[in-house]
Amino acid sequence: RTVAVVLAGGTGTRVGLGIPKQLLKIAGKPILEHTIAVFEAAAEIDEIIVLMAPGHLDAARQIVDKAGFRKVSQVIEGGDTRNATTRLALDAIGPDDCNVLFHDAVRPLLSPRIVRECVNALWTHAAVDVAIPSADTIIQVDEDDCITGIPVRARLRRGQTPQAFRSSTIREAYRLAADDAGFSATDDCGVVLRYLPDVPIKVIEGSDENIKVTHPVDVHLADKLFQLAAAQAPRLVDERAYTEELSGRTVVVFGG
Ligand code: CTP
Repeated sequence: RTVAVVLAGGTGTRVGLGIPKQLLKIAGKPILEHTIAVFEAAAEIDEIIVLMAPGHLDAARQIVDKAGFRKVSQVIEGGDTRNATTRLALDAIGPDDCNVLFHDAVRPLLSPRIVRECVNALWTHAAVDVAIPSADTIIQVDEDDCITGIPVRARLRRGQTPQAFRSSTIREAYRLAADDAGFSATDDCGVVLRYLPDVPIKVIEGSDENIKVTHPVDVHLADKLFQLAAAQAPRLVDERAYTEELSGRTVVVFGG
C-alpha cells in the first residue's frame, strides 16, 4: 500500500492573505485541489490523507467532495509545525507497513513522472528525496550577514517534495527525534539524516515547475505555469513525453 500525505497544515503567513495559501484559486481551482488531483490520478498511489490547517477543515472537505476524489480516506487537522503535521499523519496512517509520500500542498505543479520515480525508488531505498540543481550560487552567512562559506555549486541541490519513505523508517526517525529536546527540522528527510544516519537517502530529479507557492509572486508564477501547461496539453502533461519529443521522437501521453 502506498499512501500520499498532503501537508496543508500551514497558514501561509509569507503570502500574507486572509486565508491559507492552499485555498487560493489558481487556474480556476484551489491550489489544494490541483495537488490532490495529481495523486488521485497516479496509478502508484492507493490512498490519500490530507492534513489541513485548523479551522479550515470544512473548506478542505468541500474541495474533496466536490472534486469527487475517491482515494482520500481522511481529512484531519495538522499540527503547529510542519514536523508536527507529519507526526499526526504517521498516527493517521496506522501501524501497518506501507510506503508513504509526504508532499507540500502548496506544490500543485507536481508531475506524474516524479510520483512514479519516488515510488519506484522505494523498491531499493527506504528514504527518497526530490531535488533540483541550483542555478544560483548558494552562500552561507553568519548572524551579521557576512559570508562564511560558498559550497561547491555542483554538489548542491534545492530540495522539493515529495519525500518518500518506508513507513517503518520514518516512524523510527520521528521516535528518536521525540526523545531529543533540541529537535528541529524543516523537512522529513532531515529527520532521517539526523537520527538514522546510516540510512541512504536516494535523491531523484525534481522539476523547475514543481515550485512551492511561498511568496505573493509565486501565485502569479504558478498561474502562468498552469496556463503554459494547458496551452501545450497534452504534450506537457507528462515530462517524459516532452523530453522524448525534444530528443526527436514524438510521443503523446494523454492524461499523464
Ligand atoms: N505545513 C503543515 N503544517 C504546518 C506548517 C506547514 O502541513 N504546521 C505545510 C504547509 O501547508 C505547506 C508545506 O507545509 O503545504 C510547506 O510549508 P510552508 O510553505 O512554510 O507553508 P506555511 O507554513 O503555510 O507558510 P509560511 O511559512 O509563510 O507561514
